[in-house]
Amino acid sequence: MTSDDLKRIVAERAVDDYVKDGMKVGLGTGSTAYHAIRRVGRLVRENGYNLTCVATSSGTEGLAREYGIDTVSINEVGHLDVTIDGADEVDPEMQLIKGLGGALLREKIVAAASRQEIIVVDESKKVDVLGTRAPLPVEVLAFGHPFVKTALERQGCVATLRMSGGLPFVTDGGNYIYDCKFESINNPFFLESRINVIPGVVDNGLFLNLASTVLVSSSDGTIERKGH
Ligand code: A5P
Repeated sequence: MTSDDLKRIVAERAVDDYVKDGMKVGLGTGSTAYHAIRRVGRLVRENGYNLTCVATSSGTEGLAREYGIDTVSINEVGHLDVTIDGADEVDPEMQLIKGLGGALLREKIVAAASRQEIIVVDESKKVDVLGTRAPLPVEVLAFGHPFVKTALERQGCVATLRMSGGLPFVTDGGNYIYDCKFESINNPFFLESRINVIPGVVDNGLFLNLASTVLVSSSDGTIERKGH
């Protein structure tokens, strides 16, 4: 199986197990969530499902349109029944790092608004300790961002401004991202509290106690389920 097959089987399983007709559904961002969006599109077009969908990024909004799914603003729905999204790292307690795709802020708001946050990953995303493989993305205001970099590095990381085409990468919210490489994040709750009080920080990619279920696909084709 290719790495894309592993992403596809786990994303499709999540849609088949958790998305029911009439639900309000959050659509994640990234190469794994992409397969979930395609599957949701099939449910809408071929099975006539009546879903109210919210996208976690402008990219996902465009993909949803391509696959025949109408999306609404999160401001129009009270809550979401279920969201299916990917992650960059998952630890044994179902704590996550997200945001390498740049959509962490909307993803976190949608996750917090969802009764069920279903995380779909292949086994390469499993870590014993967060931060050991992926950097932690931190979304910051463009105004004064070099000062934020210094404050982030005081927390023990190397912070690199994310670039795109020679210019700073700009999020859907009009902000910048610093990718913060720690050796490891041993106390994510403490680190999150330190990062979020830095003036200029909008949010960070630690998703703590937000996942209700994690589905992990392995190269032998099996899918492990944690949570409910
Ligand atoms: C998007 O901002 C991210 O949080 C993605 O959910 C995460 O990067 C996983 O993406 P992939 O499924 O492409 O690895």
